[in-house]
Amino acid sequence: MNTKPTLLLLMLTASLLLLAACGGGSDTAPGQDASGGAAQTETAGLSAEELEHGIGPIDAFDPGPIDAALAENGAELFRMKCSSCHKMDGRYVGPALGNITEERSPAYIMNMILNPQEMITTHPEAKKKFAEFMTPMPNQSLSEDDARAVLEFLRQQ
Ligand code: HEC
Repeated sequence: MNTKPTLLLLMLTASLLLLAACGGGSDTAPGQDASGGAAQTETAGLSAEELEHGIGPIDAFDPGPIDAALAENGAELFRMKCSSCHKMDGRYVGPALGNITEERSPAYIMNMILNPQEMITTHPEAKKKFAEFMTPMPNQSLSEDDARAVLEFLRQQ
């Protein structure tokens, strides 16, 4: 005499759950579940491209073999525009750059040079560095060609 209402309740619960599941499915596209949302907070809404290569005017590129003449121009630019804050080894006003080409892609380095303000406010990696060094890297107004030369110098280290 007690089993019937219990069974009915179970069936009702089951169908409600089924309805809820279907309803939930209809407003989320397949594959875009909660994990998509979680990934977005970790990446601050940046694309994979921006995460690897930074935010700014430079897209991913292959720099090819080292151009010694270009690196020499870069060395002079580095001395004038960067050495007040960066050394190759050891922390200074900013991080050491001797191994930077092993840590960051060529485009990332150039975007950091050409667009530091947006990088340190938007890019999770650059934000971390800013939190660590607490000095905002200034835009040194280098042209893209000059930034490319500095990159070549850094690749030579
Ligand atoms: C006034 C000091 C200052 C000058 C000048 C400066 N930087 Fe920086 N740089 C920093 C600081 C500090 C950081 C760490 C991020 C931040 O706090 O903004 C940084 C970060 C960087 C990074 C990213 C390092 C990493 O580990 O991701 C690169 C690359 C870089 N600088 C290259 C350069 C180059 C090349 C120049 C010259 C064109 C230059 N910087 C000029 C202070 C400076």
